[in-house]
Amino acid sequence: MKSLLPLLAASVALATPLGSQAPGWTFTLKGNSGIVALESIVVSPTLVLFLDLAADDPLQIDGHSAWGALWDLQTSQVSPLNVVTNGFCASGAMLSNGSMVSVGGFPNGFPGNPTIENGTMGLRIFEPCADPAGVGCTLFEDPLTFHLAESRYYPSTSRIPDGSLMIVGGSHINVPFYNIPEDAASTVEFFPPKFGGVPRPSEFLKRSLPSNMFPRQFVLPDGKVFMVANNQSIIYDIETGDERILPDIPNGVRVTNPFDGSAILLPLSPPNYTPEVLVCGGTDIPDTTPPIEISSQRPGTDQCSRILLTEEGIKRGWVVERMLEARVMPELLHMPNGQILIVNGAGTGVAGSSAVHDPVGNSNADNPVFTPSLYSPNAPVGRRIHNNGMPTTDIARMYHSSATLTPQGNFLIAGNNPNNHTNITVPVNTRSEFRVETLDPPFMFVPRPRILDGPEKIGFGKRFTVPVSVPDNLQTRNIQVALVDLGFSSHAFHSSARLVFMDAHLSNDRRSLSITAPPNPNIYPPGPAYIFLTIDGVTSEGQQVMVGTGASPPQTNF
Ligand SMILES: *[C@@H]1O[C@H](CO)[C@@H](O)[C@H](O)[C@H]1NC(C)=O
Ligand SMILES: *[C@@H]1O[C@H](CO)[C@@H](O)[C@H](O)[C@H]1NC(C)=O
Ligand SMILES: *[C@@H]1O[C@H](CO)[C@@H](O)[C@H](O)[C@H]1NC(C)=O
Ligand SMILES: *[C@@H]1O[C@H](CO)[C@@H](O)[C@H](O)[C@H]1NC(C)=O
Ligand SMILES: *[C@@H]1O[C@H](CO)[C@@H](O)[C@H](O)[C@H]1NC(C)=O
Repeated sequence: MKSLLPLLAASVALATPLGSQAPGWTFTLKGNSGIVALESIVVSPTLVLFLDLAADDPLQIDGHSAWGALWDLQTSQVSPLNVVTNGFCASGAMLSNGSMVSVGGFPNGFPGNPTIENGTMGLRIFEPCADPAGVGCTLFEDPLTFHLAESRYYPSTSRIPDGSLMIVGGSHINVPFYNIPEDAASTVEFFPPKFGGVPRPSEFLKRSLPSNMFPRQFVLPDGKVFMVANNQSIIYDIETGDERILPDIPNGVRVTNPFDGSAILLPLSPPNYTPEVLVCGGTDIPDTTPPIEISSQRPGTDQCSRILLTEEGIKRGWVVERMLEARVMPELLHMPNGQILIVNGAGTGVAGSSAVHDPVGNSNADNPVFTPSLYSPNAPVGRRIHNNGMPTTDIARMYHSSATLTPQGNFLIAGNNPNNHTNITVPVNTRSEFRVETLDPPFMFVPRPRILDGPEKIGFGKRFTVPVSVPDNLQTRNIQVALVDLGFSSHAFHSSARLVFMDAHLSNDRRSLSITAPPNPNIYPPGPAYIFLTIDGVTSEGQQVMVGTGASPPQTNF
């Protein structure tokens, strides 16, 4: 057995083994989503669930337009899903038992689409579903008896260490632009309910008004939760509700709706799992500016800010770095090699529709950014971000688009619709967008390592062995094994997305890999995950696994 280093600089990982014949990074057009995929979450190794506004999308079910659908990653076919309540501008995550739960949504329906029910307190459960094409897979809803405690439009969520969901913020009503103090859902609640089911008020959510919808949040290795909204950040104690105030994001940059930047918890690595958060993009428009005084042509920010969440790091505060271009509504996504993909977004304007003085069509944003960048967390400041060899698309992905890492290791990208409903007469970059693309890393086109089998469940701190195959040309100089929650993509944020590196040893015959699971549920809250093996920059497909017992939340025994 040789001891392997999961932490070797990911920035050099892609340099060697792919050969000059293989294509580089590629956008691939895959097909048509049938509904605008403004929310997306991987719900099985082959299926992605999409949600949209209940409107007049082309995909039909039971004689009306659908607002939910399953995308088949193998066939690129979409099938409609029967959804009862309006899940527009909702959030969600996987629970510890493998069920997906979508939370919150929109109160109103759409003329001519009469079946819709009020979704602001929506709870939509998608049970684990074995059929690879999604046949017979359904969403469970019972809006009269099974719902949130408080109405939430534009909330966000995290799966917490007992496997339940913490649901944060949003608005009680459909707001035209900013959150409104008297209608804001300035509370935290849980599903299944905790603390008597009474939402707990949050001073942070009050203080961060009005640009604080879709607050970004991450469970930390001490079991507390980091949150950022507007230009403010805290660490939240789930048990007591105490909020520790952290430094503001510098330079007046704001990162939550309607001024969306994105945020990500950088990969956690053994033995210390020291947490660092990166936020990129958004805008430095003052949050007292009336929307009518904002222009769709005002540049967003190119600022990324990073904070190390130790006492020393908090004292130092946010460290600023710069993207290659300004982006509002970017997506930040984990790659199994530890790099972060920066993709989508607009160069100018803000999120939302028909609020600024010079909308493009109905879009508050313009100048879509068509070329992704890569961020290498371990490189020195100023040398972390590049787009060398990155492809350029011609499909705008601004407001109401989504992106997710897939179990195959590439990225599925869909959506864009700054309109009330399907509108294809507005300028091209602001039309309702149904084309689905993948963004394929170079390893998709070469022989890849494979995890041939795996345990159904893995216990915290337990060592387990999986059979693997490793292409002959790989020298196994750098082996990385990542445990990944692919997250729930909505409004430039991926609720519960997480990547934890695991210590691993490859056998001398290169046929088995022994892996040590994360030590406790604070490092990876119990629930579904994919294990990716990356050797010398070439990443395998993900092996699905349940972390923990798979029991329904709250889990208490680990
Ligand atoms: C939607 O439901 C919420 C929560 O019950 C309620 O406050 C709101 O008035 C409803 N909205 C509409 C348009 O029915
Ligand atoms: C954060 O925003 C508030 C107003 O919303 C402002 O008073 C404060 O100065 C900002 N902080 C920084 C560091 O820019
Ligand atoms: C599309 O949006 C434009 C700009 O607001 C509007 O004039 C047009 O009526 C809309 N089309 C549809 C079908 O709603
Ligand atoms: C969008 O919908 C709202 C509410 O239905 C309506 O008042 C508004 O005029 C619509 N805007 C456009 C541009 O169609
Ligand atoms: C998972 O737990 C939730 C919340 O209790 C429940 O609604 C759902 O049915 C459970 N799923 C499974 C597969 O047990």
